[in-house]
Amino acid sequence: MVNGGTRIQYYEKDLDIRRVIEQADLQNLDQALNICDLSSLERKLRLWHKLMPRIEPHYAVKCNDDPVVVKFLADLGTGFDCASKNELKLVLGFGVSPERIIFAHPCRPASHLKYAKEQQVVNGTVDNEYEVYKLKKHYPGSNLIVRFKSEAKKALCPLGDKYGCDAESDAAALMLLAKALDLKVTGTSFHVGSGCSEVEAYDRAIERAESIFKVGEFVGHKMEMLDIGGGFPGIDDDMFEKIAQAVNTSLDLCFPDERVRIISEPGRFFVEAAYTLICKVHAKREVRGKDGKLDTMMYYLNDGIFGAFAAMFYYPEELTPVLYLDDAESLPKLKSVIWGPSCDALDKILGDLLLPNLNPGDLLGFHNMGAYTMPIASPFNGFDVPETRYFKAK
Ligand SMILES: Cc1ncc(COP(=O)(O)O)c(C=O)c1O
Repeated sequence: MVNGGTRIQYYEKDLDIRRVIEQADLQNLDQALNICDLSSLERKLRLWHKLMPRIEPHYAVKCNDDPVVVKFLADLGTGFDCASKNELKLVLGFGVSPERIIFAHPCRPASHLKYAKEQQVVNGTVDNEYEVYKLKKHYPGSNLIVRFKSEAKKALCPLGDKYGCDAESDAAALMLLAKALDLKVTGTSFHVGSGCSEVEAYDRAIERAESIFKVGEFVGHKMEMLDIGGGFPGIDDDMFEKIAQAVNTSLDLCFPDERVRIISEPGRFFVEAAYTLICKVHAKREVRGKDGKLDTMMYYLNDGIFGAFAAMFYYPEELTPVLYLDDAESLPKLKSVIWGPSCDALDKILGDLLLPNLNPGDLLGFHNMGAYTMPIASPFNGFDVPETRYFKAK
């Protein structure tokens, strides 16, 4: 049990999704079902420590703020990246000490800063002079981590248009301003973009961070923290290994001094693979051509773009549904479209699929649904967001 009664179900060796489905009585459940494998989080943390032992992961709560997930990671000892007062409250509520938290949002409302100050969450990011003045007013004792822009050439969700100062032209001015206002800059941070698939992006950014450290020291700040942000893949462990090797090499080269604390803000890395979403077909329709022949089958699922598929708006990744029909492979396939449950025509999950002729009650599974899904999901049109059940290896 965690969180005042949420039940964790234990399994022997591997989580058998089919068995979970059989036992879940989904025909009597209106909403879709998330199957969360907490052991996957544990495996990810082990992998992190093995490949990047010098870097303290601070889980980015925005990626999946399910309290069970957050508490599980808190108990495993990770740090946390919080973006708002509510995320701080959630994490602090699980007894996480303020030193394990970075308030990694460069533009924070004054009331959120006030809360961080009360709770002594001292580390936070900043990327422009207005926020430096705001910090002077609302939290002058905090540690300023200057966030600079350093983007990957390829990422699912680039962030550089919105946040990060220019490493060459702005960072020095911000650090000088902070010094003039008697504020402490204690480090620097970047985010190469969520779902980064360019290994070298981290090398470039770490090199820029080294220059910022030098300028910061020159200006008179005590530079002691480098935050390498997020962007690590959630599914592709080979890619993660390549990134880890590159990061380690760059850190050895640019930050050999072990006294520099290196942290990171992985979100997707921890949670993406931990969730499988099981949806049910609740209605179907045939679309016929002018000649009266069947053109397309349309299926309406009990979750969609306004629910746990919300991230598809942002990251139109390829999703492949898993069918839980015994003879799915051998059945004839028809051109098919799958829609979410709302009345909105935007609510299209996948088009141009080839699927067997499905019927109401049939189930479709979607793997790797743990990142940027549930925190964005809304009960638009009155359809409930998916229920989540939690599993863990014994
Ligand atoms: C400041 C910050 N840190 C960390 C993350 C997590 O990124 P990811 O899930 O790619 O690891 C994000 C994602 O948007 C972010 O904005």
